[in-house]
Amino acid sequence: MNRWLFGASSIAGDLDLLFGFMTLLSGIVAIGVFAAIWYFCIRYRRGHETTRTLPRRGDLPVELTWTIIPLLLFLGVFIWSIRLYARIETVPDGAMPVYIVAKQWMWKAQHAGGRREINVLHVPVGRPVQLNMISEDVIHSFFVPAFRVKQDVLPGRYTQLWFEVEEPGEYDLLCAEYCGTEHSGMRGTVVALQPEAFARWLAGGGDVADLATRGAALFRRHGCSGCHAPESRVHAPDLAGLPGRPVQLADGSRTVADDAYLRDSILLPTRQVVAGYEPIMPSFAGQLDEEDLLALIAYLNSLERRPGAAEMPP
Ligand code: CUA
Repeated sequence: MNRWLFGASSIAGDLDLLFGFMTLLSGIVAIGVFAAIWYFCIRYRRGHETTRTLPRRGDLPVELTWTIIPLLLFLGVFIWSIRLYARIETVPDGAMPVYIVAKQWMWKAQHAGGRREINVLHVPVGRPVQLNMISEDVIHSFFVPAFRVKQDVLPGRYTQLWFEVEEPGEYDLLCAEYCGTEHSGMRGTVVALQPEAFARWLAGGGDVADLATRGAALFRRHGCSGCHAPESRVHAPDLAGLPGRPVQLADGSRTVADDAYLRDSILLPTRQVVAGYEPIMPSFAGQLDEEDLLALIAYLNSLERRPGAAEMPP
């Protein structure tokens, strides 16, 4: 279904208004400039009789006019667009997280509750949806024209995007970054459902484990719990107190144990060692794919702080 022309997300209307205003404004200016060019070409063409006057050396009122009017227009557009940009960049509270893994040439979606899908993304209408995205190979770009949202999806780094769909329906999802032979075929559909229908769809996936539970299984299977358990004899950070908190690193710098830090620490454990610990953890690169990593991070984020867990250096 082609729903590109009329926006269907909470920001689309305001974005279209700004875009329309800027197009109209530049259109008026362009027409004025071309009209002046034609007028002067004809009025002062060679051989045409004109009354000659001495060149004027400056005219303050005229110069002020053509300085101040464009300045005000540009400032107006600047303030208008920066406010809209801030709205687009700020994920609203209570947004529903969905995880996207892009690869040549498909979109894999993972819902926190467990359901997974490929080249289709089900979302509820009337609720902000936050996508946490990463690529398994090259750079892709997640683009839903009807929502007026587009975001690069990079290998090795999480990027975010949010939208709130206003009308149920099916919307085209495209890849907007050339990513190889089948780039043009890297398409999908966003299916926006009413909240009740979405809840039914979410529950209809059978008995699938949610993301954090899958992460917990991976945590055990790969032996993470052997060292990262409070009762372990290996001196390793207690992960229950780590995610989302500030960390003091062994090299003296500080960071926050966000999803990117957790992912790095699993793949390149010796790069950002927590202060007070030995860099003895082996790398798990090559053993875990991006979907496993998302599950592991979801599990770590789900851990409650254990009472009495050692306080991380602030
Ligand atoms: Cu993926 Cu183009």
